[in-house]
Amino acid sequence: MSQARELAFDFNRFYADTVGPMGLSENDLDGVRTLAHKAHEQVFADDLSQRPGFIALADRVEAAQGLAAEAAVHRKGFKNFVVLGIGGSALGNIALQTALNHPFYNLLPSAERADCPRLFVLDNIDPDFLSGALDVLPPEETLYNVISKSGQTAETQAQFMLFGRRLEERLGPRAAEHLIITTDVEKGPLRTAADALGCRSHVIPADVGGRFSVLTPVGLVSAAYTGIDVVELIEGAAMMRDRCSSGEMMKNPALFYAAAQYLFNCHKGAMISVLFAYSQRLKDLADWYRQLLAESLGKRFDLDGNEVFTGVTPVKALGVTDQHSQVQLYAEGPADKTFTFLPVEEPRSSRNIPGDGRIPKGQDYLAGSTLADLFAAELRGTELALTEAGRPSCRIVFPEVSASAVGQFFFMMELHIAYAGVLYNINPFDQPGVEAGKKATFALMGRKGYEELREKILSEKTRPDRIL
Ligand code: PA5
Repeated sequence: MSQARELAFDFNRFYADTVGPMGLSENDLDGVRTLAHKAHEQVFADDLSQRPGFIALADRVEAAQGLAAEAAVHRKGFKNFVVLGIGGSALGNIALQTALNHPFYNLLPSAERADCPRLFVLDNIDPDFLSGALDVLPPEETLYNVISKSGQTAETQAQFMLFGRRLEERLGPRAAEHLIITTDVEKGPLRTAADALGCRSHVIPADVGGRFSVLTPVGLVSAAYTGIDVVELIEGAAMMRDRCSSGEMMKNPALFYAAAQYLFNCHKGAMISVLFAYSQRLKDLADWYRQLLAESLGKRFDLDGNEVFTGVTPVKALGVTDQHSQVQLYAEGPADKTFTFLPVEEPRSSRNIPGDGRIPKGQDYLAGSTLADLFAAELRGTELALTEAGRPSCRIVFPEVSASAVGQFFFMMELHIAYAGVLYNINPFDQPGVEAGKKATFALMGRKGYEELREKILSEKTRPDRIL
């Protein structure tokens, strides 16, 4: 195995001496140093039971080895692997697939996928979408992984009922062989279903919430079944954990990033954080991060019960595509954003741009360069434009898009959110706003125990003159 290479962090363009008044000064950083140190001490508490659950996932190499071994045997004979889940139970699966498998993985002939199944993550209940999936995924050839931490999310339950019924109709008693259930070890209706069906099942650790669960079976099972090196992913997470072992900001990239983003938000007017992937492979990491940031830091109350309304709005962007759609706003619109670029030093393939007689001489300046050169120049140009416009940015550089680098990235981003929880004095691990929506759905769909809420919702008054 080749030596795993570290992510690199370039924070130069976060500083006022590079980017102007919206940037950070040494004084700004001094002002947050003690709090940042406290955040580190709290997150890496000596008492291991006080640490956020995701931290221990970086030690689970053996569990990852077990999953890889299981997948190598059990995936045989399945043409399709379908994830039924939503939010934290789906986004990591998509991010891993986009980053680490062939860009057109599902279209490859089976032999070029090492006979691994194609992957479909159905993270919606749109009837057209699910009907389409039922049309093209014959149960006989398909393995379903139903993922839900709570086991009671309405969307996932509906999917389970729909696809489960289809399996039973077509396969009878063999239906359970086509099902994996990934949920809490003992709680929730999906655990009851898994026990009753006797199907294969995996456990989501009780102390790891949905959006922090990509390195549990939630993300690792579909990755292992589609041939991704899940052991290397965990090793990458461990590398980052070791790299972030200091309470000194300048020695700990996750801590520096958390402190800088906190300062931008609370003292420099940055309300929006743009994660700008300069790699098609990394675009869904930005989607995964969007949920992590939004649900973790968007909070009404702090830990002392004060109404604080914290949060930064995450935006995902893709270079170069969004240069031609968003960068005008980013450079000349409101100065309320920070930018984190995700470039890749060594893409897996490179293509020369050939000379072409049909382009007139003198205008054929691209000939002889590579697509990677052009990509890098476009990033540099965007960065420069934003710096000139006084907009702070940084780079998290992937040396290559390997399982190790992606594992490092997941861990670093989760850790910076845990630190941010201490900086803002909020709980980054709950999601009362999401729960409120889930309860309203239960009420509207007639779930027992939600009658009062249903009455309240149905008695909501609307004025017909406002409906055009
Ligand atoms: O981060 C979270 O906790 C949520 O976004 C959940 O992942 C999402 O609501 C799905 O929940 P569950 O896995 O319980 O079905």
